[in-house]
Amino acid sequence: MRRTPRPLVAGNWKMHGLKSSLKQVRTIAASLAKTAPACDVMICPPATLLRPMKDVAKASKLKLGGQDCHASSQGAHTGDVSAEMLKDAGAAAVIVGHSERREDHREMNVDVRAKAAAAHRAGLMAIICVGETLKQRKAGAALRVVGHQLKGSLPSTATDKNTVIAYEPVWAIGTGLTPTVDDVAEVHTYIRKRLQALLLDGSPERVRLLYGGSVKPANAAELLVTKNVDGALVGGASLDAKDFLPIVRACR
Ligand code: 13P
Repeated sequence: MRRTPRPLVAGNWKMHGLKSSLKQVRTIAASLAKTAPACDVMICPPATLLRPMKDVAKASKLKLGGQDCHASSQGAHTGDVSAEMLKDAGAAAVIVGHSERREDHREMNVDVRAKAAAAHRAGLMAIICVGETLKQRKAGAALRVVGHQLKGSLPSTATDKNTVIAYEPVWAIGTGLTPTVDDVAEVHTYIRKRLQALLLDGSPERVRLLYGGSVKPANAAELLVTKNVDGALVGGASLDAKDFLPIVRACR
């Protein structure tokens, strides 16, 4: 039997959140302090909120992450944030290669790999996102696309401890659509298998594989018990404690 790694439920706030949103984090942190969750819990706010969120989350086990980083540690890159800066602001992880970055900023696998390596250099866990479009799924190319992204985006520095893979089908993000649990299991099992050849250090069995795309309180339980699913990357439903907490509690 595969030894299941401790699950991770992470919230990706995307470009949402002002100081006033910290009250959601206060509620989440208080709940986690009261009853320990069965998974690691993380929020990835916009970079502007990392430091104040760190102060709010301090007494709890809530972890924080960034949503993107530059591949360099510093330099003349107006508007960018380095992995070292995210770490300095209180992050333990950073999402790289989210489909919105791949789409909005034309990020390619080679860029994602450099960003993941930068995360490792800074001592951050890299949450590397992969996922097919609807057109690709309909063409029967989902596994091929995901395999290609995984191979191209995983740096040689990846281990089971410093790397998490998030499978996020592009067509399921923010649409209310989700793949069947059988489809999720198929892709996750494929990713696990590919990691056997791609991961140079650590155990592929212990790499956490998150599912992301329209995860809600209503579907979290069945997704989280799906084969080879070790947690969730949650967008919209992570913005409000009353939606995010039931997802965290669905982890058993
Ligand atoms: P939604 O949960 O809003 O579909 O977003 C998923 C996502 O992109 C998380 O990174």
